[in-house]
Amino acid sequence: MDGNAFWDARAQYYKDYNEINTLPPALTLGNMLNIYEAEHIVEVACSTGLFTVFCLCNLEKAKSFISVDVSGTMIKLAKERKHNQTGINREIAHEFAIGSATDLSFIKDESQDVYVSNMCIHMIPDKIRFLEEAKRVLKKGGKIGLTVPSEKDGLMDLFLTNLDRIGCKPNFKENPWSIGYKDVMVKLLQDNGFKVIYCWQDHFKLPYHDDEDIDFQLSHGDAKSFFASLTPEKKVEFRKNIISDFASMKQNFTPLQMKLISIVAVKEV
Ligand SMILES: C[S@@+](CC[C@H](N)C(=O)[O-])C[C@H]1O[C@@H](n2cnc3c(N)ncnc32)[C@H](O)[C@@H]1O
Repeated sequence: MDGNAFWDARAQYYKDYNEINTLPPALTLGNMLNIYEAEHIVEVACSTGLFTVFCLCNLEKAKSFISVDVSGTMIKLAKERKHNQTGINREIAHEFAIGSATDLSFIKDESQDVYVSNMCIHMIPDKIRFLEEAKRVLKKGGKIGLTVPSEKDGLMDLFLTNLDRIGCKPNFKENPWSIGYKDVMVKLLQDNGFKVIYCWQDHFKLPYHDDEDIDFQLSHGDAKSFFASLTPEKKVEFRKNIISDFASMKQNFTPLQMKLISIVAVKEV
């Protein structure tokens, strides 16, 4: 399945179960980018449009906003959301575009004040090309803000530690945490013509409260692919261990969460 087909197939699930969890880091990124002061903004990997629509309702100084995603189904759901939303600031010239972060040729050189992309660059094989395009469309002095998952977040840690315990390995094509370190992100941006202003780690909380929420993740969510590949005996053992760890966390009043690294930088030249 190529990238678009993967995200097209996942779009409705993303809207129903994921987007609300990734909104807090997007809002923090927007704050740290001073997005409320910017006139020309591009959001890359807008998915089902929750952050886009928040911005369209709340930005007062923006003149244009471009929302890009590689998945046509994500963009279709985002358009529906915008259509159903009241309170949109119609002064902002807004467009949705189906396109890849690595080819934003429909956006003019040096036209944007802010480039924001929450939870995307870690999935892009050619990260240099991603940053070249961001740099091309940003004005000199324009700001970029990115967020990536950090190595072994709480939820994945629960799954991966327990996979290891039963002697199995995850079937990821690419390690989703390969750039989820502060020093790696700082160097990546510095090496590609940006001056880093802030880079920080955050945790966002996942609203998984009961064993049913864990079962849902095993059958529909992030653990679906590797859970499905286990033998029936391993499935039982794996689930039992996870449920027991989850119970211990709750006894300790600790919610499941995801760890991430965010970065804000300026285009230097
Ligand atoms: C984990 S979601 C994050 C979405 C959203 N920014 C958020 O924080 O909820 C990743 C999104 O990146 C999009 N995506 C994946 N590869 C992309 C690419 N090359 N260019 C643009 N978007 C891409 C997917 O379609 C999906 O909507």
